[in-house]
Amino acid sequence: MAREPLIAVPRVAVIVVAAGSGTRLGGGSPKAFVGLDEHSILRHALRGVFAAPEAQVIVVAPAGREGDALTEALEAAGGRRDLISVVPGGATRQSSVQSGLHAVWPDVDIVLVHDAARALTPPAVFERVIAAIDGGADGAIPVLPVIDTIKRVAGSEIVAGVDRSELSAAQTPQGFRREVLDAAYRAAMDEFTDDAALVAEAGHPVAAVAGDELAFKITTPADLERARGLVAPLAHVPVSLTPSPAAPRVGLGTDVHGFGGEGSLWLAGLEWPGEPALSGHSDGDAVAHAIVDALLAAAGLGDIGTHFGTDRPEYAAAHADAFLARTLGILGEAGWRIGNVSVQVQANRPRFAARRAEAERALSAALGGASVSVSATTTDGLGFTGAGEGVAAFAVALLIPA
Ligand code: CTP
Ligand code: MG
Repeated sequence: MAREPLIAVPRVAVIVVAAGSGTRLGGGSPKAFVGLDEHSILRHALRGVFAAPEAQVIVVAPAGREGDALTEALEAAGGRRDLISVVPGGATRQSSVQSGLHAVWPDVDIVLVHDAARALTPPAVFERVIAAIDGGADGAIPVLPVIDTIKRVAGSEIVAGVDRSELSAAQTPQGFRREVLDAAYRAAMDEFTDDAALVAEAGHPVAAVAGDELAFKITTPADLERARGLVAPLAHVPVSLTPSPAAPRVGLGTDVHGFGGEGSLWLAGLEWPGEPALSGHSDGDAVAHAIVDALLAAAGLGDIGTHFGTDRPEYAAAHADAFLARTLGILGEAGWRIGNVSVQVQANRPRFAARRAEAERALSAALGGASVSVSATTTDGLGFTGAGEGVAAFAVALLIPA
């Protein structure tokens, strides 16, 4: 008679790959540790994993950050700390998955590979993938229909249309029979962008199940804003600060930054090669920061420090477009649209005349097409701007109930 094991070992393992650097996000720290609200991308991803059917959870962390990853996992796991393993990742996603595969417990027979960057994936997607494998598939991945019209392009020429009804966008978690995934990884000679491609190359059919819009991958600053809007709309803003939009409201914002920063000058959303850089948290773009303050003041939603403080490392290297896009999102959630923005720069340099229209276009684009006018002046040699020590900017904004 077979004896029952003393502790039930899960038959499923989820490898959560979180070892990427997040180059395209540009957040200053590995992407998995960037905050969505008071919790990181990794923590949100793990919350979804632990809400899915019980599984061994292997977190593949950036090398040297295993301890931080373990802390996140322990907090997300609630009572199931025994299910967690943390291993260091490799230089590519594929080598990170490989490193996770080595940690899968012996009795596991289904392995799911999941991007931590798909932090808001609902547990039902995990259930669908597991169900497809239980139903007999060697592998199963969540997919979404492609919405955009797709073209094949060579250089700047459209070569052909592509029938989008044949196309799907692949998401994670991607699940496989354990022996199929192990063998495919052992045999892999090339780098593949996902596990399904690697398993298909090894000759196994992979099934498609329904994906979910919420399983989108946080890749760019715009994706990060979307995720933040979904997890905590206005959660950190005191309710007393937020008047309901009944009539138009104006706001005033000013900002000053001194010269002395590293790299290029960024001002009014433009890079100014050859001009001295401003110093400050982020790129020191006083024009963009004054606009953000004017918009938030008009909405009664605090100021730039309320939303973009130094505790948000992902804004340390950010440019105007990230600040303005996030501000536009905040205003939209609160029921406002922008009437117009007017900003004046006080500085000896750079000379704005030749690039004024370009600055207006860049700022307007970052604010969803809102009207932005930029003017510039000098101060007859007086004051800190006249002495060439820094730049000041003054903005007013008009908001209209959406
Ligand atoms: N990943 C990983 N190890 C790597 C590269 C990526 O574990 N060497 C993980 C990422 O942490 C992420 C998932 O694979 O959860 C998908 O990768 P991607 O979105 O490209 O993340 P990054 O590689 O971090 O971002 P970027 O390509 O912009 O640098
Ligand atoms: Mg990558």
